[in-house]
Amino acid sequence: MRCFGRFLYVVLQLVWVTTAWPRPQVPCFFIFGDSLVDNGNNNAILTLSRANYIPYGIDFPQGVTGRFTNGRTIVDILAQLLGFRDFIPPFATTGGRAVLRGLNYASGASGIRAETGFNLGDHMSMDQQLANFHRTVRQMRRILRGNSSRVHDHLSKCIYYVGMGSNDYLNNYFMPNLYPTSLDYSPKTYAAVLIADYKRQLTQLYHSGARKVAVSAVGQIGCIPYELARLTRRSNNGSWCDARINKAIKHFNSGLRNLVNRLNNGELPGAKFVYIDSYRSSSDLVRNGASYGFQVVDKGCCGVGRNNGLVTCLPLQQPCEDRRKYIFWDAFHPTEAANIILARKSYNSKSHSDVFPMNIQQLARAR
Ligand SMILES: *[C@@H]1O[C@H](CO)[C@@H](O)[C@H](O)[C@H]1NC(C)=O
Ligand SMILES: *[C@@H]1O[C@H](CO)[C@@H](O)[C@H](O)[C@H]1NC(C)=O
Repeated sequence: MRCFGRFLYVVLQLVWVTTAWPRPQVPCFFIFGDSLVDNGNNNAILTLSRANYIPYGIDFPQGVTGRFTNGRTIVDILAQLLGFRDFIPPFATTGGRAVLRGLNYASGASGIRAETGFNLGDHMSMDQQLANFHRTVRQMRRILRGNSSRVHDHLSKCIYYVGMGSNDYLNNYFMPNLYPTSLDYSPKTYAAVLIADYKRQLTQLYHSGARKVAVSAVGQIGCIPYELARLTRRSNNGSWCDARINKAIKHFNSGLRNLVNRLNNGELPGAKFVYIDSYRSSSDLVRNGASYGFQVVDKGCCGVGRNNGLVTCLPLQQPCEDRRKYIFWDAFHPTEAANIILARKSYNSKSHSDVFPMNIQQLARAR
């Protein structure tokens, strides 16, 4: 009886310890992308694509960090859903053993193509983000005493989030005065060229050790306040979004979905790629805004000009009062309220048209 009592005591203590300090579902989380997920990597570089000033971060626990929204980004919320106690820190300012838990390499204005976004200044393109990840892997090898099999084992258990492509349209293809791509390529060919580049980059990520990779589609950027501010209803046949941009994005997204399918079916053995259909979930948000509690679906909460979409939210500008009623925080980026819905969908939606062929929760558990 005494023995049983002691056994029970030990079991209860174990239960207490494991519930008091829940471990994340995966040991590490790495992030690549643009301003939608950047958390401060652009703060110290010369660029207009920066958000380290008030009122950005107005609803974030640590205030201003360089995040391009009022609160948490999609990957912040995903990190919490995956059970991480702290947000994944930016590559630019993080070193030491912390790198084992994951880093965020995302950089505002960046794209798949090297030249994308240079109209805004300096930034880290996808190729540079991958080179930075490679530096991290070398650092890990030192931390784990040169044991390559341990490094490989660790990297294979992490989740990788990659969200690229928006700027290859916004700050490249649809800026014909500065970039020649729309003269060189039809929308369909441009999408194919981007996907070929992206395939090389995702394959490189795989060869660096990644096995569980969630790739985000490009959202419905023909409907962001930035484009709405530049559009006249008449020139667009009565639709309030820019149909030409949305059509071009659809070519890219269907190419990306096919790519994910190919990579999962033998091209990269042992890899699991997930396609997050941000286009569908962002258009669902706009179309059914009211059912999610949004009252304003076509205007930034903070900004200048028509739809608050002419330029970005400026330093010290007064944002809207109730951020939960807006889908868009500024001309380009969703509010935290919208990010929560988008992140949850990618994490646990059972619908293959939200996230394919499995959701991020299932990706975390997959072996
Ligand atoms: C590397 O780590 C693994 C797992 O911890 C261990 O079994 C193996 O002996 C280590 N190899 C070397 C060369 O230290
Ligand atoms: C508007 O409608 C006309 C005629 O149906 C069509 O030729 C044109 O491509 C449409 N424009 C857009 C932006 O969809």
